[in-house]
Amino acid sequence: MSGETAMHLRLGVNIDHVATIRNARGGDHPDPVRAAEAAAAAGADGITAHLREDRRHIRDHDIDRLMGENRLPLNLEMAATEEMLAIALRHKPHAVCIVPERREEVTTEGGLDAAGQHNHLVPYVKRLADAGIRVSLFINPDIRQLEAACALGAPVVELHTGAYAHAVDSCDAARYEAELARIADGAREGFALGLEVHAGHGLTFDNVTPIAALAELRELNIGHFLVGEAIFGGFDSTIRRMRALMDKARADALGSRIA
Ligand code: PXP
Repeated sequence: MSGETAMHLRLGVNIDHVATIRNARGGDHPDPVRAAEAAAAAGADGITAHLREDRRHIRDHDIDRLMGENRLPLNLEMAATEEMLAIALRHKPHAVCIVPERREEVTTEGGLDAAGQHNHLVPYVKRLADAGIRVSLFINPDIRQLEAACALGAPVVELHTGAYAHAVDSCDAARYEAELARIADGAREGFALGLEVHAGHGLTFDNVTPIAALAELRELNIGHFLVGEAIFGGFDSTIRRMRALMDKARADALGSRIA
């Protein structure tokens, strides 16, 4: 739902790296579908999974099972390729987030160039939307990209928070302020354009609060940190703690607006 701010900030749990650990030994454990079930029990609002061209983590069979066995809405992240489009149209997940993908990258390093790739993206957005799938574009927080998402008719954007996360790690206050302002401006501008605005990448217990406090955001997608931190705190309590931090940030920010 766009057009209004919401107290509840949805948490999409990205389970890619459960599959990364499974694939390290080539067997079935740990099972990403079991992780999806655990995420649901811990208060996640959705499950996110990225089917990469090289299948380095999530595999086709995981998507089959997530569609059949997982009770939360599935947000399928994928590159804009014919192969991925066919998979999405076959499964019809709740949402598809179109991401840029380069085979040699370690993770999704930047946002989609929605402006520069308009003609390439038009048929993907249209065919997904025609199938009833909510289309999201993973973009950098940049007004040109937000306007391009609107021009493409995508109802949702996800703002890439990777540069913000790196800025927090840098302990450089000016860089931190600038990156946080970029996300805040992007969230406001996207909201004003009528888009539903999500955010994600590199979010942790230490950096989530200022992002969760942005009232225009409706959803955060978080993966690597939750799976890594689960080694120390358990998956259930790690997700519950993230949920609690998000809820507190939201309540503090929206409460202070009302007061
Ligand atoms: N959102 C998108 C579109 C992504 O591609 C990723 C990484 O796969 C994430 C969110 C989650 O990022 P992280 O694993 O760093 O939390």
